[in-house]
Amino acid sequence: MADDRLIVALDVHTMMDVKILVDKLGDSVSYYKVGMELFYSIGERVVVYLKQQNKKVFLDLKLCDIPNTVAGGLTSLMNLGADMMNIHAFGGLAMMKKAAESVRKAAEKANKKPPKLIAVTVLTSISEEEWKEMGHNTSVEEQVIIFAKLAKKAGLDGVVASPKEAAAIRSAVGEDFLIVTPGVRPKGASVDDQNRIATPAGALKNGATHLVVGRPVRAAEDPKLAAEEIIKEMSEVK
Ligand code: C5P
Repeated sequence: MADDRLIVALDVHTMMDVKILVDKLGDSVSYYKVGMELFYSIGERVVVYLKQQNKKVFLDLKLCDIPNTVAGGLTSLMNLGADMMNIHAFGGLAMMKKAAESVRKAAEKANKKPPKLIAVTVLTSISEEEWKEMGHNTSVEEQVIIFAKLAKKAGLDGVVASPKEAAAIRSAVGEDFLIVTPGVRPKGASVDDQNRIATPAGALKNGATHLVVGRPVRAAEDPKLAAEEIIKEMSEVK
């Protein structure tokens, strides 16, 4: 029924809205993304609640700081029991290495399975023009590949990327690497403010392992049906 490859973005602000959506989606959705808006609004109780409901949690807080601080931050977050967390590749190889090591050590100490740790490459909101303006000589796509390779070298489990970048990343880093893609729109769904989109099947065919979907499910007249249709489309891609 549910498919762990579908992660529904909980872009709401209150515990009540979380409960209403999780309730509506019931058994059809097993994985949720908690981002900074929600986490900064209501804090860790949202993760505790989702775990009590036997859901998986991607804690999307995009940490970026010096290695020691990111490692400490992740160690603190480990207590919450999220299944996936993320950091910015922009923090560099040493930071990513230390982050991966801190998660492994904290999991070992707690005798728990370590959560997946993935890296944000180049934010999809940054245009080629803006990227150049920041002083870079590489193209955005080249940089995404450089970051994905560094993330792998650092021992991370994968990256967050646009579905349009997934194929190039997959061929650069090989099979054993998560590619988590937002910007997914089923055929006929509103594009909203997303630019580089793909359908659920298209994103998987490009090499994505997980799809982050927000509005196409949340804002649908029948969110459960919308999620089930996405899962059906996903099941056709192995
Ligand atoms: O509603 P929609 O499906 O566009 O939501 C996508 C989710 O993925 C949102 O939570 C958004 O913040 C997140 N995201 C994104 N693009 C990125 C990184 C994260 O859309 N590059």
